[in-house]
Amino acid sequence: MPSDLALFIGQILTKPHQVVALAPSSRFLCAQMAAEIDPDGGPVIELGAGTGNITRAILDRGVSPGNLHSIEMNPQFCARLRANFPGVNVYEMSAGDVSALPIEDAQAVVSGLPLLSMPTALQRSILTGTFKKLRSDGTYVQFTYGPKPPVTKLVRDELGLQWRKSKKIWWNLPPARVYRFNLPTPAIGATAH
Ligand SMILES: C[S@@+](CC[C@H](N)C(=O)[O-])C[C@H]1O[C@@H](n2cnc3c(N)ncnc32)[C@H](O)[C@@H]1O
Repeated sequence: MPSDLALFIGQILTKPHQVVALAPSSRFLCAQMAAEIDPDGGPVIELGAGTGNITRAILDRGVSPGNLHSIEMNPQFCARLRANFPGVNVYEMSAGDVSALPIEDAQAVVSGLPLLSMPTALQRSILTGTFKKLRSDGTYVQFTYGPKPPVTKLVRDELGLQWRKSKKIWWNLPPARVYRFNLPTPAIGATAH
């Protein structure tokens, strides 16, 4: 059986437009992705789990395997995730269908997807599906290698997303930042129409 790294590099070569990476995320980037997860804060959804470097960081935060729901569309990566992380719920499907997961009130959706290289319609279904699964103060966590927020402006504006970004994580190939997106907080005293 190839190592996780050999499997990942093999899939970069055979499916470059799906994997869209030079290497799996480093432990420094993965730790930043998982940094705000509360082990007792309820379900976590992961998108684009690959060979599981971020999966491992989420479990290392103390989340129980049964509370982690990892979506990955590549069947070979799914087989590896199931072998490496018993008890984690692995779904072989597109992240565009995240709204179909049997989960409510997730605390976070943690994404290793190559979001900016996806068509706007797919980004929109990933983000709208994500915020259906998150509780009202839940967070969408996404890394990016580039200088701009990793959700296209059109989709950010449609959903009214607010965000924070981390410092640059240099120990990653290539260096990356982590963005945390939330829906706007309703003003105190505002009434629903
Ligand atoms: C940049 S890799 C990240 C892998 C891993 N999370 C990491 O950080 O090392 C992107 C992953 O997203 C997966 N992916 C791409 N498009 C997807 C989609 N529409 N639905 C689910 N997974 C997808 C790829 O197969 C790949 O495993």
